[in-house]
Amino acid sequence: MNFKEFTFDNILFVNFTSIEKTEKHLQILSLRNDERIRKFMFSDKIISLEEHLEFIERLRNDDKRLYWAAYDGELLVGSINLIDIDYQNIRAKLGIYTNPDLKGYGSKLINALKWLCFEQLNFNCLRLEVLANNMEAIKFYEKHYFSYEGRLRSFIFREGNYIDVLVYSILKEEYEKSKS
Ligand SMILES: CC(C)(COP(=O)(O)OP(=O)(O)OC[C@H]1O[C@@H](n2cnc3c(N)ncnc32)[C@H](O)[C@@H]1OP(=O)(O)O)[C@@H](O)C(=O)NCCC(=O)NCCS
Repeated sequence: MNFKEFTFDNILFVNFTSIEKTEKHLQILSLRNDERIRKFMFSDKIISLEEHLEFIERLRNDDKRLYWAAYDGELLVGSINLIDIDYQNIRAKLGIYTNPDLKGYGSKLINALKWLCFEQLNFNCLRLEVLANNMEAIKFYEKHYFSYEGRLRSFIFREGNYIDVLVYSILKEEYEKSKS
């Protein structure tokens, strides 16, 4: 398996470190910086091109973090990542966002993450953390067989308020069952 580039359900996933054109990085950034996405990220700061490219340089020597841009043909439909990859305890944490002007790509992207984690890396557990006020994402994860694990209280401080974070996960055996 080449994590640099792969296709799943007709979507092409390109590792951030394999993207050369600045224009493509700007497209990714404009998605990541979109108000409708960044308000649900742990950091809601606007990311500059310079910061983005420095981040990608750090990813080159980091086997615990993998980030991909997702394309349907030429169209950037979203991005996925696996972070906190733990090869000893065979688990990882996921990140996902889709182009807010498009509908229905979330399911394709989350299925790609499960396939990567359970069928390519042969991991046992895929975890995620979601802001407790992100109702759409919570409904989305539950629809995709993630189970609630717990609550990180007052985990994010934003605009003078504390926000809780919910932890969800799916185990390999649950993934296998959900397929049948
Ligand atoms: C969470 C997120 C990834 C979900 O992606 P999504 O594309 O909306 O998810 P889905 O694929 O389930 O599609 C959403 C709905 O559109 C419907 N849909 C699918 N294809 C469609 C189409 N062509 N036209 C209209 N609706 C469509 C789906 O059936 C689904 O409906 P349901 O919720 O009633 O089942 C996305 O909302 C997102 O990026 N949010 C912002 C970032 C974020 O919060 N990320 C998670 C942080 S933890």
